[in-house]
Amino acid sequence: MSRQREHWGSRLGFILAAAGSAIGLGSLWKFPYITGQNGGGAFVLIYLLCMLLVCFPLFIGELVIGRATAKTPVAAFSILSGKHSSWKGAGWLAIGATLIVFSYYAVVAGWALNYTLLSLSQFTKGRTPEEIASVFTLLASSGSINVLWQALFLLLTAGVVYGGVREGIERWAKILTPALFLILIALAIYSMTLPGFKEAARFLFVPDTARLTAHGILEALGLSFFTASLGFGIILTYGSYMRPIDDIPKTSLIVLLMTLAVALIAGIMIFPIIFSFGFEPQAGPGLVFITLPILFAKLPGTLVLSTAFFLLLVFTALTSTVSLLENLSASCMELFSWPRHRSVWIVTLLVFIMGLPSSLAASGKLFSAWPAMFGADFFVTISSLVDRWFLPISGLLISLFVGWAMPKEMRDAEFLKGTTWGRFLKPWLFLIRWLVPAMILLLIFQATGMIDVDALFNRS
Ligand code: TRP
Repeated sequence: MSRQREHWGSRLGFILAAAGSAIGLGSLWKFPYITGQNGGGAFVLIYLLCMLLVCFPLFIGELVIGRATAKTPVAAFSILSGKHSSWKGAGWLAIGATLIVFSYYAVVAGWALNYTLLSLSQFTKGRTPEEIASVFTLLASSGSINVLWQALFLLLTAGVVYGGVREGIERWAKILTPALFLILIALAIYSMTLPGFKEAARFLFVPDTARLTAHGILEALGLSFFTASLGFGIILTYGSYMRPIDDIPKTSLIVLLMTLAVALIAGIMIFPIIFSFGFEPQAGPGLVFITLPILFAKLPGTLVLSTAFFLLLVFTALTSTVSLLENLSASCMELFSWPRHRSVWIVTLLVFIMGLPSSLAASGKLFSAWPAMFGADFFVTISSLVDRWFLPISGLLISLFVGWAMPKEMRDAEFLKGTTWGRFLKPWLFLIRWLVPAMILLLIFQATGMIDVDALFNRS
């Protein structure tokens, strides 16, 4: 390409954009409900270990490929390994999986839009906690309302990516990301005063291995990839806009720690409500939407608080979908030489159509036999398919690529450029070449039942 690659304006700009991509529904919506379903403490511990030992080295790996090639995934893999190499397949896998994630993500973000409007109309007034909770079921099972919000949210995302990410999203992220942190911390502190806090703290932070299953462990790995935006080449694309003076390892750590903090604070905010009001931690995808309005209804300033929270949720979802759409349309621009506007609209339309089965999942209007066949509705099925298989496998391929296939000198030089953490090159290489692939493989084998780690360690 003759056109000069765009670059981030500043180090802060990159951190905000990457953190904006990472912090989103994954930390605020998915982390609490998956933790609830997997029994708490032990799952949280595995999630933490995955973030630090697997995601951190991989995050650096994606940035290294991205900055070294200044390309999007498919092109990056083919530059580094030759045009006909099968590594290109890893790039295509990343693109396909991004489309799938985006398709159901927009539906959940649509729920957040719906709850913003609900908050404005003070829907919790005069309702009991059970009645407030039942609003979610009503929403999930109403196909056409879901489609409306999904479409609106996609238009919002398209508008931002269309109009230029750097200007718009970076400027807003500077104000709204700190605002989100403030509201989250304030709510978490309030939650700590609830009677159920003790039980919640025990649930979240005291590991009880008896409640952890092999599938749960793989799910923790997938969740860590999901919240870190890893595995699908998103961070790779963002890395391609980095400048040589940017510090890859240090900024990676900052972004991951921010993401981790948001997930944990979200847990501290939500679980005390669950135990105080006698709800089940296993409520599933509706957890956040069911519990938080009940908390807001108890607090002074319900209208403002609730509206502000859900608006921020929409916003964090938006900074994440912007990264998804940006990655997909940048890939189309590069692969098919389409102009930006055409790429953006075609991808958006495709994602809308692909999202319809998720939108209509709980209404029984489409694929009504699905739940009986798969044991969960369409939405839940594809979401756990992505978490358990696509993300770990993509992650495995990227770690193998960085560790073994990509040219050594280029990789090492890229790591060292702009960083004061040069001494960590060796440990990083060890992690990405051995530990990361080994851990991912172990978890995959365990999940397929080919080996049984449980049997090796305990209960003998
Ligand atoms: N990390 C985002 C979140 O937590 C979602 C996301 C953005 C994502 N880009 C991704 C997930 C790439 C998987 C892969 O909400």
